[in-house]
Amino acid sequence: METVVSGIRPTGNLHLGNYFGAVKSFLQMQYEYDCFFFIADWHSLTTHPRPGNIRNSVKKILAEYLACGIDPEKAVIYVQSDVPEVLELYLYLNMNAYLGELERVTSFKEKVRSQPDNVNAGLLTYPTLMAADVIIHKAVKVPVGKDQEQNMEMMRKYARRFNQMYEVEFFPEPASFHLSEKAVKVPGLDGSGKMGKSEGNAIYLIDDEKTIRQKVMKAVTDSGPVTPDSEKPEPVANLFAMMEIVSEPSVHDFFNAKYNSCEIRYGDMKKQLAEDINLFCAPIRERILATLSDEDYMERTARRGAEKARESAARTLREVRKIIGFKA
Ligand code: TRP
Repeated sequence: METVVSGIRPTGNLHLGNYFGAVKSFLQMQYEYDCFFFIADWHSLTTHPRPGNIRNSVKKILAEYLACGIDPEKAVIYVQSDVPEVLELYLYLNMNAYLGELERVTSFKEKVRSQPDNVNAGLLTYPTLMAADVIIHKAVKVPVGKDQEQNMEMMRKYARRFNQMYEVEFFPEPASFHLSEKAVKVPGLDGSGKMGKSEGNAIYLIDDEKTIRQKVMKAVTDSGPVTPDSEKPEPVANLFAMMEIVSEPSVHDFFNAKYNSCEIRYGDMKKQLAEDINLFCAPIRERILATLSDEDYMERTARRGAEKARESAARTLREVRKIIGFKA
């Protein structure tokens, strides 16, 4: 089976956009590939050098992924900082990574602008750490969003450069598996665009019924159509798009017909939508809470994941040391 690696930054809770974007693809991939999914806690130090409650954030995200259905018997799920082997490969890659090319990375330049007082070397070498994350398992595919494409190009460059530098055919060049092309885009309910944490319009998997209802009832609409079969403005289209994702087709079609005959009552539609979102989220929410409260299970799962990841990483590293010329 081909190997897949993907990293998840431990920032905030998972929302519906994450679920129908990345998480659903992960769920499918775990049965089709040898998957390594890890929580990129080292990467978060590039922007948050004193991360405070990092263990907590890591735990939260781990519980959420498990609750969504990432199966630790199928995929290796682990925490980046539990696999020190990655750091050794990071060091080797850094020896063959050049200042000029790292400085040209767009996300680095953005960070130079957004955190001028903390332009640290970790930020500069974010792409080499990310490359190490992936090629340490000799992965061939990486499910990522479009925003990661430049990091992916750097990753391929470093894999290729290693092979050329030491005249070996050792690391495969990992291909991007673009999530956005496969995924259902979840809209925001605040009028335009998609759901996102930074957009401030997210419905989180952990949200309780009341919170969901409040968020949905606040969704932007308009005063309703006046001519039959008129085109829906974006806020209304988003409401329908959300309904298509979480509700029964007959429910969506019912409100769509009401819209087309100018009899739509958005209040009723939102009430129904809130109910259906809650029906979808409730079992996941319950699993998140149950998982979080089972410290033992979480510990065991993280430990087992780390063991498997370290085994795979150590195997690669032994070869790497031999190739460079260190004693294996
Ligand atoms: N940079 C990724 C992000 O911001 C997270 C990440 C770290 C990652 N290492 C990775 C993703 C390796 C894929 C593979 O989302």
